[in-house]
Amino acid sequence: MEIKITARSAEETEAFGRLLAQKLEEAGVTRAFIALLGEMGVGKTAFTRGFASHFGINNIKSPTYTVLNEHRGRVNIHHFDFYRITDGDDLYSIGYDDVIESEGYCIGEWSENILDFLPPEHITVRISRVGFGEADTERLIEADLSGIVEW
Ligand SMILES: Nc1ncnc2c1ncn2[C@@H]1O[C@H](COP(=O)(O)OP(=O)(O)O)[C@@H](O)[C@H]1O
Ligand SMILES: [Mg+2]
Repeated sequence: MEIKITARSAEETEAFGRLLAQKLEEAGVTRAFIALLGEMGVGKTAFTRGFASHFGINNIKSPTYTVLNEHRGRVNIHHFDFYRITDGDDLYSIGYDDVIESEGYCIGEWSENILDFLPPEHITVRISRVGFGEADTERLIEADLSGIVEW
């Protein structure tokens, strides 16, 4: 089921992330790969911050330089930023294959860059700007949750 929502502030994008985390947990989905799509500054890290907050993880920072931030809490969250990943060798060097097989949730910013390497079952969340001005805070969030959670 494709859902579309409008988020009018960073807080609303975080709230959507938090709600998705809650729904996954309620549905008993304890492992998932969430592929985040969307340009720079659109709110991918904000979404992740909200998602993690559902599990009591409150120190989400952009993994732009580290590529992977590991959070261990009530659940594990593996927070990737694939912005600087250009090929499979880059993924190999961060232990990608092992991480995606491990317990918990993976969230990948800039998943556009690793489309060929996404696990076959993943949840796509696309965030896009609606207005054109820099100050415009409206975002469209589209998520394909088919067969995963009821919305
Ligand atoms: N609706 C919105 N959703 C998310 N972020 C928003 C929104 N409106 C404004 N912002 C701002 O845009 C920026 C998003 O930053 P961030 O989450 O780091 O983006 P990304 O990880 O996609 O590069 C933040 O400064 C945030 O306050
Ligand atoms: Mg980010």
